[in-house]
Amino acid sequence: MIRASDISVRLAGRQVLHGVSLDAAPGAMTAIVGPNGSGKTTTLKAISGELTPSAGKVTINGRDIASLKPWELALKRGVLPQSTGISFPFTVREIVRLGLEAAGSGKAVAGDRTADEALEAVDLAGFSGRFYQELSGGEQQRVQLARVLCQISAPVADGEPRYLLLDEPVSSLDIRHQLTIMRLARQFCADGGGVVAVMHDLNLTSMFADQIVMMKAGRIRARGAPKDVLTDETMEAIFGCRMRVSVAPAQDIPFVLPQSATM
Ligand SMILES: Nc1ncnc2c1ncn2[C@@H]1O[C@H](COP(=O)(O)OP(=O)(O)O)[C@@H](O)[C@H]1O
Ligand SMILES: [Mg+2]
Repeated sequence: MIRASDISVRLAGRQVLHGVSLDAAPGAMTAIVGPNGSGKTTTLKAISGELTPSAGKVTINGRDIASLKPWELALKRGVLPQSTGISFPFTVREIVRLGLEAAGSGKAVAGDRTADEALEAVDLAGFSGRFYQELSGGEQQRVQLARVLCQISAPVADGEPRYLLLDEPVSSLDIRHQLTIMRLARQFCADGGGVVAVMHDLNLTSMFADQIVMMKAGRIRARGAPKDVLTDETMEAIFGCRMRVSVAPAQDIPFVLPQSATM
């Protein structure tokens, strides 16, 4: 379990998170949704240990992350950041292998095989010799995910669940690759790991998430299963636009459409 208890974060003198608490259980996909600037990325950074809250604490499998060394954290969770501009001419293989270095297994003989498997999982087999900068935005996003999968290749290690913390993992992807990545994340959960993903596509979120956490202005305003939190009322309250939530008959899950193309 990753547990954030009443965390507050200040950035540049401004309070960005106000007492955020959330549990991300192994075996489940937790989605964080909300408008731009609502604190989703900041929440993910706080639970990944990338920034230290001004109040509250975060535990991962019962251990306070403030007490863990970077290499200990790297064995427990992998992080896909929202933006990953890289200005050096790295090849895809070099970037993906950074995940192995993070996991302390950079010199492992199996390293190249692990990297190749990770690339295959994100549908980038054959890309390892290409230059990262010469790839499309969606391909770069999948390379970064392969790096994370290289770091956290097994959902459970030494009997402990591990976690993928993904900031908008499918935002640049076409629909087929969105499904590839969401299925991969779901399989990671089915195999005993946990996933926290910041999402914008509410319909994909509805289909894949076990728990949705809705943020607005640095606070969690709603949480629960998709069918409980994706409602006309929460859409209006959180996003400030009128939507029509219906239920897809084949799946019995909500889907969300704007009420109208005009204001
Ligand atoms: N390094 C920073 N310094 C100052 N303010 C920041 C910083 N990073 C983010 N913020 C502000 O914190 C708020 C939440 O940002 P963020 O968590 O990135 O939002 P989201 O991911 O939900 O779009 C925004 O108002 C943003 O401008
Ligand atoms: Mg963000």
